[in-house]
Amino acid sequence: MKPTIIVNFKTYEQATGSRAESLAKLHEKVREESGADVMVAVQNADIHRVSSSVSIPVLAQHADPVSYGSNTGHDMPECLKENGAWGVLINHSEDRMPMEEIKKTIERCKEAGLKTIVCAENTAEGKDIVKMLPDYIAFEDPELIGTGRSVSANAPESVKGFSDMVDSFNREEGKEVVPLCGAGISTGDDVRKSIELGMHGVLVASAITKAENPESVLREFVA
Ligand code: G3P
Repeated sequence: MKPTIIVNFKTYEQATGSRAESLAKLHEKVREESGADVMVAVQNADIHRVSSSVSIPVLAQHADPVSYGSNTGHDMPECLKENGAWGVLINHSEDRMPMEEIKKTIERCKEAGLKTIVCAENTAEGKDIVKMLPDYIAFEDPELIGTGRSVSANAPESVKGFSDMVDSFNREEGKEVVPLCGAGISTGDDVRKSIELGMHGVLVASAITKAENPESVLREFVA
């Protein structure tokens, strides 16, 4: 199975503005050559710029559960969609939301035709979120984010527990929520280990955005 690789550009300088565009183009090249499901999550202000120059799925890093009207300063799903977003990251560990807001945001994104990738910090939280039927659910251990110590190598039982939970939910409910994991993913082996533990792919940031040669790291991920 070719993995799903979502690369979160966060607000890294190397992945902002014109650099976000160049970095996304390299992801497009690797996606086309490898057949792997590679996507990028860019700063919302970069969505139009990036989505206009690549054909791979571009995700927003945040959406608010608002509709057309008076909501100054909010990121409305319809606007993200119209500017080229394919989907949205919701409840990332660096952008946590109350449960009720996660639910409303998933609903609003669906209405706007956006895919939803919702993060959870542990299996208990994942259990509540999976019922909201996001398209993808990503387990990210906050303690390992940005450390270069991968969640698949350092917390394999938690990864397996999470993917098993999503699997049983899907089987019992006849759904297809896609499980991913992230935090510290740094090598191709970390990606393969995540797959062995039942995940369909990974969410990653620093190992690629801060790499001297992001293309070679990405190629190793999809090998
Ligand atoms: O969303 C991905 C992220 O939080 C993991 O970050 O730098 O540990 O790959 P990193």
